[in-house]
Amino acid sequence: MLVVFLGPPGAGKGTQAARLAAKYGIPQVSTGDMLRETVAAGNGLGNKMKVIMNSGGLVDDDTMRRVVQERLEKPDTVGGAILDGFPRTTVQAAALDELLGRTAHGGVDLVLYLDVPEDVLVERLSRRRACPECGANYHMTFNPPAQGSRCDRCCTELAQRDDDREEIVRDRLEVYREKTQPLVDRYQAQGRLVRIDGDAGIDDVFERSDAALAEVVSA
Ligand code: AP5
Repeated sequence: MLVVFLGPPGAGKGTQAARLAAKYGIPQVSTGDMLRETVAAGNGLGNKMKVIMNSGGLVDDDTMRRVVQERLEKPDTVGGAILDGFPRTTVQAAALDELLGRTAHGGVDLVLYLDVPEDVLVERLSRRRACPECGANYHMTFNPPAQGSRCDRCCTELAQRDDDREEIVRDRLEVYREKTQPLVDRYQAQGRLVRIDGDAGIDDVFERSDAALAEVVSA
């Protein structure tokens, strides 16, 4: 079962991918998280990526293809995976089809497109806080930590992502419209896309996403 979450920054891809991955017992493959791990390593490659990510731009397609290929070759993805943040360009989508065509997965089974209005996205990202230690994500209003501003899992002080500053969020949304939005039409034309109204509570969006996935699983 190969599922792709598609949607603009702040749509809830990471939040929903983590929940579906836990329910179906398959890994969440988040390219944003993988890149942030590389940045945290503090080497030359990480520093290069940090500059790109903090400016709201995209890491180049060839690097991303290699990162995802390496991840999908790991044995824990044999039963499937939930991709969050990849593909993000038409070149990446073609690379994913080619890559999956060479594996037992065959292809993308379902694309869940989280549709959320832009003003809601900006609000969500301005109030998002992430754990620098374990990567857990919170929203200070809609999904707050249990104790003040510390991570529920590891008790580390939460922080705002550098790319969640409002001026960078605007740039990320622009990049999304130009580079990623065309994938909605591409997957829709292929009959693989289900549009989910993502402008609702986290539990409601989960139910909608889960219902769409359950339909594919039972088909
Ligand atoms: P990445 O980390 O993938 O960022 P993104 O796609 O911009 O997505 P976000 O993580 O910002 O949002 P999300 O949709 O996951 O929402 P979330 O669930 O966190 O990528 C970061 C950077 O890495 C990119 O800009 C790029 O530079 C690079 N990169 C990554 N992949 C790449 C690729 N394939 N190619 C090239 N470059 C790549 O939710 C957001 C907030 O809202 C949270 O606080 C959450 O708690 C809250 N929330 C979620 N759902 C709801 C809800 N229903 N109601 C209320 N609040 C909610």
